[in-house]
Amino acid sequence: MKVPLLDLKPQYQALKPALDAALLRVAESQYFILGPEVKALEAATAAYSGCKFGIGISSGTDALLVALMALDIGAGDEVITSPYTFFATAGTIARVGARPVFVDIDPDTFNISPRAIERAITSRTRAIMPVHLYGQVADMTSIMDIARRHDLRVIEDAAQAIGSEDEQGRRACSIGDIGCLSFFPTKNLGAFGDAGACVTNDEKLAAKLMKLRVHGMEPKYYHELVGGNFRLDEIQAAVLNVKLPHLDSWSAARQRNAAFYDAAFARAGLAGKVRTPPPAARGSRHIYNQYCIRVERRDEVRAWLAKHEVGAEIYYPLALHMQQCFAYLGHKPEDFPESLRATRESLALPIYPELDESQLQYVVDTIAALFRK
Ligand SMILES: Cc1ncc(COP(=O)(O)O)c(C=O)c1O
Repeated sequence: MKVPLLDLKPQYQALKPALDAALLRVAESQYFILGPEVKALEAATAAYSGCKFGIGISSGTDALLVALMALDIGAGDEVITSPYTFFATAGTIARVGARPVFVDIDPDTFNISPRAIERAITSRTRAIMPVHLYGQVADMTSIMDIARRHDLRVIEDAAQAIGSEDEQGRRACSIGDIGCLSFFPTKNLGAFGDAGACVTNDEKLAAKLMKLRVHGMEPKYYHELVGGNFRLDEIQAAVLNVKLPHLDSWSAARQRNAAFYDAAFARAGLAGKVRTPPPAARGSRHIYNQYCIRVERRDEVRAWLAKHEVGAEIYYPLALHMQQCFAYLGHKPEDFPESLRATRESLALPIYPELDESQLQYVVDTIAALFRK
C-alpha cells in the first residue's frame, strides 16, 4: 500500500468544477492583481480568523516581513521567537535588520516556552513572534501577559494554524497585534502557488499594511513609506475563495485522522518507543497541519517507512540557532536543548483529510513491525 505524506489531487478532483470555473473567471476578467477576488478573500479570511481586517499578501513569508515593517521593527531591535520553526519566522526578523532572539520550546507542544521568553527580554526587545507550530496555538495567555507587562508587540506566525484556537476558544491571529497566514499549497488552506495574508483588529495597522504591500504608495506614485511588492494575485485568491468554505471539514478530517493514530498507536503497544502528540489543552482546537510523533531511531524509522512506501518528513532537521546564516548569534546546539531534541526525534506522518483508515492503520503497522524486528 502507498501512503504519501500529502496528496493534493483528491482535493482538486472533489472541487474541480468550481476551481476550474474560478480560474476561467479570472482569465476572462483579465484582472490579475488586487482585484475583487482578493477583496473577497480578505474579508472572508479576516472573519474566519476572528479579526476585523484582512490584507492579502504574496506569501506567508512576506506577511511576516510586512507585519514587522508595519510595527517599525528594525536595526537595534530584538524580536523573541522560537528556534524550532520554518526558517521564515526568524529570516524575516533578520531581513528587517533586527536581531532574532531565540528561546527554547515546550517539549509537549513544540511551541515557544513563555517562561523562557520572560528571561530573554532586554531593553531592546520590541516584539514576540510566537509560532503556532503544526496547527496548535502557542500559550497565548502567558505570552500576551508578558507582552502587556513589558510593552511588547506580538506577531502571531499562524502559517500552519489557520482556524486553530487556544484553550479560551480564541482563534489564531486574533490574539496578538497582527496574525500572519500562509496559503502555501501544503497548508490546510492551500493556493495554487504562493499566497498569504495578514489579519488584525487594529484599523491603523491594517491601513499601514495595505500601504506597505504596494511600496508604501498612496495615492498612486506618491510614497509615504518604503514598502515592497507584497501583492496577492487574483488567481490565488479565486482558488482560496472556492476552498475556504471547505476548510472546517478538512480540518475536522485531520482531527479524526489524528485521533485514529492516537488510538492505533496505543493499541500497537509502542509506549516508550513512539510518543504521539499529547492531548491538546481542553477547549482548544488543534488543526493538525502536521501530526508529529517523537520516536527514537527516527532516521531509521523514516527510511523504513520510505521502503514501505509511506511518506514521512522531518520538520525540522536543523534548529534555526544552528543555521549557518545565524552563526553571528554565537549559539551552541545545546543552548536550546528541547529544540535540539525535537530536531532529532520528530517525524511527521501522513495526516491529510482524504486518507482512509486502512492507510492510517498501515502507517502504524509498518512502524510497529520495525520495532518488533
Ligand atoms: C511556521 C511558518 N512560518 C512561515 C512560513 C512561510 O510561509 P510561505 O511559505 O507562504 O512563505 C511557513 C510556511 O512554510 C511556516 O510553516
